Amino acid sequence: MENARTRPAKLVLDPTMRMFVMDILLEYRKTGPTRRNENLKHVLRMVKTLRGHRENLVTCGCDPDVLVAAIYLSDLGKEKHVQDRYIGRYGNDRFKAFLDHARISMIYGNDLRKKRDVSSVRWRRILGSIVGHDGPSIPGSWWKTHYESELKRRYPNIHGLEGLIHCYLDRIDQGGIFRGRNGQLNGGLRKISNDLFFNSRISGNLAAVIAEVFGPARFGTFDQLEYLDEKARPRVLRGKKFPKVIDELKRQFIESDRYLNRVIIGEIDNPRVDIILDSGEKIEARTLEEFWRILSEIRPEAQVAEMCLVKRAG
Ligand SMILES: [Fe+2]
Repeated sequence: MENARTRPAKLVLDPTMRMFVMDILLEYRKTGPTRRNENLKHVLRMVKTLRGHRENLVTCGCDPDVLVAAIYLSDLGKEKHVQDRYIGRYGNDRFKAFLDHARISMIYGNDLRKKRDVSSVRWRRILGSIVGHDGPSIPGSWWKTHYESELKRRYPNIHGLEGLIHCYLDRIDQGGIFRGRNGQLNGGLRKISNDLFFNSRISGNLAAVIAEVFGPARFGTFDQLEYLDEKARPRVLRGKKFPKVIDELKRQFIESDRYLNRVIIGEIDNPRVDIILDSGEKIEARTLEEFWRILSEIRPEAQVAEMCLVKRAG
């Protein structure tokens, strides 16, 4: 029977694969509750977007059980207790281990899958769907640059249909903001803003953090999606149909701009962040928490044109 514990594995039909997926999720939960684990929330969000698409995925030649297992497993290597087991291989360098989290996930996952007897055919497909999931190998991209200079290995290409879908889902989630069931805005941009605000060289500087997140982080994702559309997709698909879910998500991703258009970032001599409400009123956000709370109150259907009318009428 379905409950809060088994719900995340609902998309997985094969009983062996379902047990394997449950084992992976239990590993994430060793770190603490879901609400405080951004890494887990990221993989849960990606899988959630696949709900209602199982049939279409199968029609396109995708194995949803493999895809879901690969998504969950792919970032397990970022969890501290998992990373600690292999940190010696990286000379105790956390950054190197982080860059190689996909490989760590695969090695750790191999023990888990053996316990559940996941077939080697399916396992090979899972591995193929994890490789290169952090983004396409675009010259100059953050992942390619750091991966190759730190690990002295070539950043890998995307393999197969599940790998391509996984990479799209990962990039869309990292570079977008999406409204959750509780009405709050979530997604990778919020996660990055937290990382930068609390743990970076621009810590505590709200205007700089928001400028970074809604500037380079967001635009970098657009470049990656363009690369996936133009280079990776034709190579992997070779004329075959592509699952509808990705184009739907891309539309939602582009719609995130409606929120971004409501944010005004001050100049260096006036570092403040204002948000334009649906009424046209401008309100200043003083903390990161306040910023996301105010932005969540916006109704994205209200177009910029409507706001201009409000402003002109005033
Ligand atoms: Fe990852």
